[in-house]
Amino acid sequence: MENNAVITINNLVKRFPVGGDFFTALKDVDLKLNKGEFTGLVGPSGSGKTTLLNIIGGLDSPSEGQVSVLGQALNDTSHGDRARLRREHMGFIFQSYNLLPVYTVFENVELPLILNKVESREREEKVTQAIEWVGLSDKRDSRPAMLSGGECQRTAIARAIVHQPALVLADEPTANLDAENSHHIMKIMLQLNHELSTSFIFATHDEKIMAYLRRIIHLDDGQITEDEKIKNPKTSA
Ligand SMILES: Nc1ncnc2c1ncn2[C@@H]1O[C@H](COP(=O)(O)OP(=O)(O)OP(=O)(O)O)[C@@H](O)[C@H]1O
Ligand SMILES: [Mg+2]
Repeated sequence: MENNAVITINNLVKRFPVGGDFFTALKDVDLKLNKGEFTGLVGPSGSGKTTLLNIIGGLDSPSEGQVSVLGQALNDTSHGDRARLRREHMGFIFQSYNLLPVYTVFENVELPLILNKVESREREEKVTQAIEWVGLSDKRDSRPAMLSGGECQRTAIARAIVHQPALVLADEPTANLDAENSHHIMKIMLQLNHELSTSFIFATHDEKIMAYLRRIIHLDDGQITEDEKIKNPKTSA
C-alpha cells in the first residue's frame, strides 16, 4: 500500500440476499482515496452510497473484492480489529443518527472517548468543544427525544469528530439542517481537513455540501459512473 492511501477498493461486489435470490447493490467498484481528500459520493436514492460507506466502515462485508482502510485489509481482520479501527480512527455520521435515547447530548458525544479510554478531564474538555462547534452548548443535557431532527444530526456530527479521527464517513450529514447550519458544519469539517488532514467522504444530494468538495464520485445502480475532480471548490463558508 502506498502510505498516502486511506482507502483502496478493488473489484468490490456487494450482494444482499432477498427472498431466496440476490440483489446486487454494488458491482465492479474500484476506488482509491488519499489522505486529506474531501470527497463526495453522489447518486440517486438506492444507488449504493450507504452500502459503500458501511463497507468502508467495516460495518458490512464485501461479497467479492478487496477493501483496505487506513492500512488494514478488512478481509483479513477480525470483527474486533475492525471495531477497534473504527473506534480509534474513524468517525461515522449515520443517515439515521443512531443516537442512544437514554443518553444526553453530552453523553452521546462522550461515548467514543470512553471507548478509547480517554480520562475524564480530557473528555469533558473535548466533548464541550465538539458540542460548541456544532452549536449545541445549551442542549448538552437534553436527551434525543427532546431534540429537533437537526439537533440530533448535529449531535451525531459532534460524536463523529470528537476523537479527531483520520477518516470521517458522513451519510447525508446535512439532510435535516437549515442553510446556515449546513454551511457552519461544512466550515468545521474544512477546518479539521486543513488542520489535521482528516479525510472525508460525504454521501449527499445537498448542493450546499457539493460546493465545497474537491472530488465527486458518481454512483448509479451500484457502479461508479464518473470520478470528477473539482477545480475551484469553496474553501470557506
Ligand atoms: N440489507 C439489505 N438487504 C437487501 N437490500 C438492501 C439492503 N441494504 C440495501 N439494500 C438495497 O441496496 C440498494 C442500495 O441501497 P443504499 O442504502 O446503499 O442506497 P443509497 O444510495 O444510500 O440511497 P439513499 O440516497 O436513499 O440513502 C437499494 O436498492 C437497497 O434497497
Ligand atoms: Mg443512503
